[in-house]
Amino acid sequence: MQVFETVRGLRQFLAAHRATNIRIGLVPTMGSLHAGHISLVHAARQECEVVVMSIFVNPTQFGPQEDFAAYPRDLAGDLQQAREAGVDVVFTPTVAEMYPTGFLTEVRVSAITALLCGASRPGHFHGVTTVVGKLFHIVGADRAYFGQKDYQQVTVLRQMTRDLCMPTTVITCPTIREPDGLAMSSRNAYLTPAERRAALVLWRTLQLAQARLAQGERHGDRLMATLRNAVAQEPLARLDYVAVCDPDTLCEVAQLAGTVVVALAVYIGATRLIDNVVLQVPPSA
Ligand code: PAF
Repeated sequence: MQVFETVRGLRQFLAAHRATNIRIGLVPTMGSLHAGHISLVHAARQECEVVVMSIFVNPTQFGPQEDFAAYPRDLAGDLQQAREAGVDVVFTPTVAEMYPTGFLTEVRVSAITALLCGASRPGHFHGVTTVVGKLFHIVGADRAYFGQKDYQQVTVLRQMTRDLCMPTTVITCPTIREPDGLAMSSRNAYLTPAERRAALVLWRTLQLAQARLAQGERHGDRLMATLRNAVAQEPLARLDYVAVCDPDTLCEVAQLAGTVVVALAVYIGATRLIDNVVLQVPPSA
């Protein structure tokens, strides 16, 4: 496995491969790897001859009061996991390499970035699209792999590639869960044992949404009220948002039909966790 810290080194290495017309798959990460990331590598491995993983805690997607400094970092452990998972190339740039003095450009997707997580994390998605757009260019990725846990992120990145005619195909891979249902996330490491138990409220709430749809609920507002109430039952949880929304526009849906996304963000203590499910609303009897 090759490891590069510079854009120049990575590009020189990949140029030789690209000349042979192979597919390059990119798995963008912020490190602190878990089984969710490794599943993305496996998906990339199946479809691409060269698998590149980026490990970069991107400062521009964190708000001033957020956890950029505290975000878990373990480069040695990450490199070992990447090697074992079959990654060919790791790109671990410094902040100065990605945002050198004089950097002035930002990639912004509008509208859908103001909803859901964008409402409570202003500017977050502009940081994501800027860094991911840059990574797509640096790597020349044919395909890039992301987890469904970040449903809005994937929707925003797809919009970016479509609008800017980027040649990279965005692939969404299933959310990987702990045996009790908690979605894998690097931020789970922040949870105390009591918070870890409380965090199950996210998965319970998403399962409740599925059950209510199966029982015939078709009113978006009523379903969201039920889900808000479910989160409120957990004393260590503070709801940021719950939404039942259209899978493409991310706008809330009043009359539930077809495919809907149920997404939520919940603070467990000081840790903000997100999760979602994509559901088919059963045809009404
Ligand atoms: O999902 C993440 O880990 C990050 O948002 C990403 C896509 C690596 C961009 O920094």
